[in-house]
Amino acid sequence: MELHITCIPGDGIGPEIVAEAKKVLDKIAEKYGHTMIYKDILMGGASIDVHGVPLTEEAIADAKAADAVLMGSIGGNTTTSPWYKLPPNRRPEAGLLAIRKALNLFANLRPAVLYDELAAACPLKEEISKAGFDIMIMRELTGGLYFGERKTIEENGVRKAIDTLTYDENEIRRIAIKGFDIARKRGKKVTSVDKANVLDSSRLWRAVVEEVAKDYPDVTLEHMLVDNCAMQLVKNPAQFDVILTENMFGDILSDEASMVTGSIGMLASASLNDTKFGLYEPSHGSAPDIAGQDIANPIATILSAAMMLRFSFDLDKEADAIEAAVKQVLKDGYRTIDIMSEGCTRVGCSEMGTLLAERI
Ligand code: IPM
Ligand code: MG
Repeated sequence: MELHITCIPGDGIGPEIVAEAKKVLDKIAEKYGHTMIYKDILMGGASIDVHGVPLTEEAIADAKAADAVLMGSIGGNTTTSPWYKLPPNRRPEAGLLAIRKALNLFANLRPAVLYDELAAACPLKEEISKAGFDIMIMRELTGGLYFGERKTIEENGVRKAIDTLTYDENEIRRIAIKGFDIARKRGKKVTSVDKANVLDSSRLWRAVVEEVAKDYPDVTLEHMLVDNCAMQLVKNPAQFDVILTENMFGDILSDEASMVTGSIGMLASASLNDTKFGLYEPSHGSAPDIAGQDIANPIATILSAAMMLRFSFDLDKEADAIEAAVKQVLKDGYRTIDIMSEGCTRVGCSEMGTLLAERI
């Protein structure tokens, strides 16, 4: 099979981790008889440096022309990088928001899994972590506060900033359907997270999710307020299967969930539209402080490439092979610095990619 993949190496550690993902994908291609056709595009700071904007129309066209997009990370140090002296709509993150919107990537899947091999890195008490957990956060990605009208004005000499939180029922319905579809293939439970005790958008969210749930009698639905959910994630993460939530809540809860795994360098993500197309990226950021030192953990990006094979190309066997290689490399005792523990062998970013490719 020919796989047309547009790659966004991006900023910080992005280029290093994407290079390792390509190494592993190339091994998959060789072993399973596929052809990987990559095209790199610029986004974020890397694009600002060359084009003055974080995403060009040409880059969007290249992304659209591919079967899937594989991304590293974008952004820099927000206090020291000159990118953050630019107006907000020309900063690196604006590129990411623009590509999500342009490609209609409304469904963001962020798995938070506790790996047995890395259980020691989990910051929770053992009595909580021993139950294990495997949560899929389904975050709505193209609506809500992130895309509502925003402005900063001055009224009678007083500065005032306005962000608008809007959802229509169609936006809620399509992410809810994806959430229930995914839950059906996993633990058959959806926890819909909102702030329905305060927000109208959350009350509509709850009503539409209930309507969608009627078509999934085999899936259990519960509602949870977002503040309670933040608490439950550290108190009893094993209770969750699929967490379905809006954009801003999902941003915050997915960072929390990934942190409680103790291994944010391991967590992948997929952003999907309503076709097979998707953008795949690690859940972590660009870590500019460790960029270029060959110490970043490429596993989250490599697992994102596995999600890409599974969701965009229906190559389950190949995706399984990558996931098995990750488990094996951990069993064999190899660790990057972020997941290092006593008695293991420390390796760099590039060596980790090589070790994984060898296990395909
Ligand atoms: C994420 C990031 C982005 C977001 C930023 C970089 C705009 O935090 O993907 O979670 O808030 O969506
Ligand atoms: Mg985030």
